[in-house]
Order: sequence, then structure tokens, then C-alpha cells
Amino acid sequence: MVRGEGSTVWDAAGREFLDALGGGIWVAQVGHGRRELAEAAARQISELAHFTSFFEYGSDQAALLAERLAALAPGDINRAYFTCGGSEGVDTALKLARLYHHHRGETDRNWIIARHYGYHGATYGSGTATGIPDMQVAVGPNLPHVEKVLPPYPYRAEFYGGQDPTDFLLNELSETIERLGARNIAAMVGEPVLGGGGVIAPPADYWPRVRELLRSHGILLIADEVITGYGRIGTWFDSAPRGMDPDIITTAKGLTSGYVPMGAVLMRDEIAEAVAGGDRNFFHGYTYSGHPVSAAVALANLEVIEKEGLLARSLEIGEWFRGGLVTAAGLPSVGDVRVEGAMAGIELVVNKETREPLSMELALEVADDIYETHGVITRNYGPTLVLSPPLVFTRAEAERTTAAITEVLGRLDVEAGRLDSR
Ligand SMILES: Cc1ncc(COP(=O)(O)O)c(C=O)c1O
Repeated sequence: MVRGEGSTVWDAAGREFLDALGGGIWVAQVGHGRRELAEAAARQISELAHFTSFFEYGSDQAALLAERLAALAPGDINRAYFTCGGSEGVDTALKLARLYHHHRGETDRNWIIARHYGYHGATYGSGTATGIPDMQVAVGPNLPHVEKVLPPYPYRAEFYGGQDPTDFLLNELSETIERLGARNIAAMVGEPVLGGGGVIAPPADYWPRVRELLRSHGILLIADEVITGYGRIGTWFDSAPRGMDPDIITTAKGLTSGYVPMGAVLMRDEIAEAVAGGDRNFFHGYTYSGHPVSAAVALANLEVIEKEGLLARSLEIGEWFRGGLVTAAGLPSVGDVRVEGAMAGIELVVNKETREPLSMELALEVADDIYETHGVITRNYGPTLVLSPPLVFTRAEAERTTAAITEVLGRLDVEAGRLDSR
């Protein structure tokens, strides 16, 4: 791709595409080609391009951004630690959780509980917490002391043996805590809504009950909001309405709309104090920690999100998707349609009754056909086709997207196992 404007991008051959995937990867909240963000970057580069926030220094922009995020974040989450992206943020959060306990005298609290189907990044730590096994094959031993539990996946009721999913999962979590020993567990990490796992939202009672159980054992909760943060589902942080009440929130992507790389790990005052209060030093960081240009762009980006009412717009986009996918939902290949604000997952199956998932190859062919035939950018994550457009998406663009998906899926012959050409 060589150029972008709003929700449209152009490739090197000059062909135009509708970006229904936010820079191809759940980003681009304010849309492509925004002058305000370009100018903020240019201004900051002329002023002070870089000075690290690692160690004892920092920059005015990083400080201003930390202050802004403290005002946006819920409750006593008032402290920010800046990274270059989501994976570094999750690694940072895992270290913070362990250090928090360590400095309070609980030095055995090393275990991390994560979830199957969760995506947390590609570095050693975040990659181990990720519950998508293909990423962990043949790369040697993963991070030790990480245990996985099942997430809620209401469409896959068979996971829970006929039990209510939340009851089943609470039981599994309780048993896991007992087996590992509560005093050996530092934290649990989870996305409010699973993104890369296929846009899977939990039942309303899941996070509040998980939260309560963890708190009763002194285990921290890390909400990974790298996708959901900054407006994807109609709020600044989706962990709040889901009842997660987290101790740490990891964010990236929407913080700068992807214009420059940056992540922010937000935490309760108590955690920052335990780890870096008094004469303690959180000996962790990156050359580009708190990068002034990234921070300046993030501030400009948050202002655009606020001024243009993009939080509300994301919910509208969701309504347009929901309406536009009604016909697709009735097709033999569509098992489940899940819309959460400005993101959607369309789970493809071979058979609606048995809910057998469509093969990876055919799902990939579907996404490719939507791209080639209609010039609309989507992606399959396993058998699930995913949408996560810029939050400036218009009704016409949403309708074009859902019409393209419906047309292509109409040609998918699941019995014969092939996608017919148009
Ligand atoms: C929930 C979640 N956490 C972490 C990450 C990793 O972020 P990054 O790719 O910026 O390292 C992602 C990336 O998609 C994500 O979806």
C-alpha cells in the first residue's frame, strides 16, 4: 500500500481498496491521511525528536500524555508506562505484576494465568501468554509459569459440557488456582472481548465473577485492551463496562491510530508505588520509551477521537454491520455473526448443525475473493472473517463491506468444499 485517505487505501499499482480492517490490523481509528496528526508529528520533530523516558529523564509530551490517560482511565488507574506497541506492553505488565508481589514480600507469585484463543503479542512473554498454538510451534521452550484456561465462547457450547459457560469457567479457574497454589500466582491476563481469537464477547457475568475470585486470592487482573482501547467498542476502555475492574490495562494500536508506534501500560497507583515508589527503580524500558513524537501524535489523535465523537460512531458502525449481515447470517456457511461496536466476526462453518469449522484454506480464499472481486480488505482468523475498520467508516462503506461479504459467501459451496467464481 502506498497511500491512504479516510477509509480508502491505494496500492503501488494505483488500485483503490476499502480498508475494513483498520490498516490491516485493527488500527487506523481516526482514518488514514489526517493532517492534524502529520502536523503534530512534524511540529514535535522540529522541537525535540527524541529523548528517552527510560531511566531518569522524560519529555514534556510523554508527561502530558500520561496525564491525559490518567484522566481517561477508570478509577485509580492513574499511572502510565510507555512502550512501542502491544507485545512490549504485555511483557511489561507481566513483569509489573510479578514485581508488585515481590516488593510486597510475596516472592513466589510468578504464575500467570492466560486463556486459550487469547492473543497478546509475539515477543517471548506475550507470545507465551497467547493461546494460539501455531505461534508457539518449533521456537523452543516458551516462558515458564504460564497456565491457560478456556475463555467463554458461547457459540461453542460443547466446550462446557452442557453447563452454563460462566459456571464451568469459574469452576475451572478455581481448580487451576488450587492446583497452582494461590500464593504462587501473580496475575491473570485477558482481553475484554477476544479479538484475534475471532471477536468473541463474554456473557455479562463472566468478568465480574472472575474479578471477584481473583481478588479473593490476591491475584492481579490485566486487561489487554490493545484492540478494544480508545473507542473500538464505544468507550475509551472496554474493561469498564465488562466489569473487569482491572489492576493493569495494556493498550497500543488506537492510542496513535497507528500513525507512529506506541503503547501505554496503565496501572493503579498502588502498583506504580510498589514497583517504582520511594527509592525503587523499575529497571525496565526501551530506547524509545515515551517517544516524544509518538506522544505528541497520541495527544492529537485522542483529541480527534473526542472532537469527532468517534466513540459513539463505533457503535453506529456496529449497527450498520449488524443490519448489513442479516442476509449473510442465513447462508449455509455462516455459523455465527458477532458484532461488538466497530468490530465483527463472521464464523464460517461447513455445517450449521454440527458447527464444524470451515477449513483455514477456504476461509483464506473467501477473504482473498472479497479483496480481489470487491476491493474490500478483511481477514480470516482461522474460520472467522473479521472486520475492524477506521472509526470514520461511513454507512455507505459499511454497506459496501457487508454486501461484498454476502455476495462472496453466497458462492461458497460448503458441501462441495469450494468457492465458485463469479
Ligand atoms: C489484544 C492484543 N494484545 C497485544 C497485541 C500485540 O500488539 P503489537 O502487535 O503492537 O505488539 C495485539 C496485536 O494485535 C492484540 O490484539
